[in-house]
Amino acid sequence: MLTFRSISALTKYLEKFSDAEAKIGFVPTMGSLHDGHISLIDKSIKKSSITVVSIFLNPTQFNDNKDLQEYPVDHEADFRILKEYDNQLVLFVPETKEIYGDSIETKKYSFSGLDMYMEGSSRGNHFNGVITVVEKLFEIVKPDYAFFGEKDFQQLRIVESFVKAKSLNIEIIRCETKRSYDGLALSSRNKKLNNSSKKIASNLYKALRFARDNFDKLEISEIVSSIEKKFHKISEISLEYFLIADESKLHPTNQKYDGVKYRAFIAAKINNIRLIDNINLN
Ligand code: PAJ
Repeated sequence: MLTFRSISALTKYLEKFSDAEAKIGFVPTMGSLHDGHISLIDKSIKKSSITVVSIFLNPTQFNDNKDLQEYPVDHEADFRILKEYDNQLVLFVPETKEIYGDSIETKKYSFSGLDMYMEGSSRGNHFNGVITVVEKLFEIVKPDYAFFGEKDFQQLRIVESFVKAKSLNIEIIRCETKRSYDGLALSSRNKKLNNSSKKIASNLYKALRFARDNFDKLEISEIVSSIEKKFHKISEISLEYFLIADESKLHPTNQKYDGVKYRAFIAAKINNIRLIDNINLN
């Protein structure tokens, strides 16, 4: 597996894949790889002539410096996982300076309301930071396909709308959420949960399943209040939001309209570890 740390070396290597038939697949990550990331990589390898995996802990998407400092990093373990893929992929692991130069600046974007709720309202400048780095990475890798997980559904929608608004010739491939046996969505942050916290964390998935199982039977407001009541009783979890929104605009709603696709979204803290998850409802 080839590993690139500089933009110039990576772009020079990728020239080999610049003809029309060759397809470049791209899987951007922040490292601490787990089976969720692996599922994106496997999809890319199946679909592309070459897959580029990036590992870059992007400072501009963290509104809390402590969160950035404490983000789990294990490059050795990541390399071991990726080495198995041999020459099917190349790895791009730039330093912060390689991506941002001397000034770490966040660009400002307009996301047409997609960032109004959930992670957009809870985490300040988060999506400006995400798209700042995604735009830079897209310019470097120039992928034909880019793979994003539904685990971060709001991020996925914002990337899709960014690509559309900029008329970029990149197909965004949606990848379903990978979960552990008890439903807990795989996440790099799970590494910071001990076993009892992990058990408690499975309540997030239970809440999403309750919403899905009762979506046709109950009013949205009944689903939401029932979940809020349930979480109120679990002292180890602090619920930040539970809401139901349409998949396209991501606006929370209490009404169901025919022909509209809905999702339930949840964010909660367990022992100060913040987890998010979502599920499709219809
Ligand atoms: P990161 O959290 O490392 O996730 C990288 C990709 O893996 C994202 O597309 C995310 O949605 C996907 N992913 C994470 N957990 C998953 C799971 N359990 N099942 C399926 N896919 C999963 O998301 C980021 O990094 C960053 O914001 C990034 C896009 C790299 C920009 O910095």
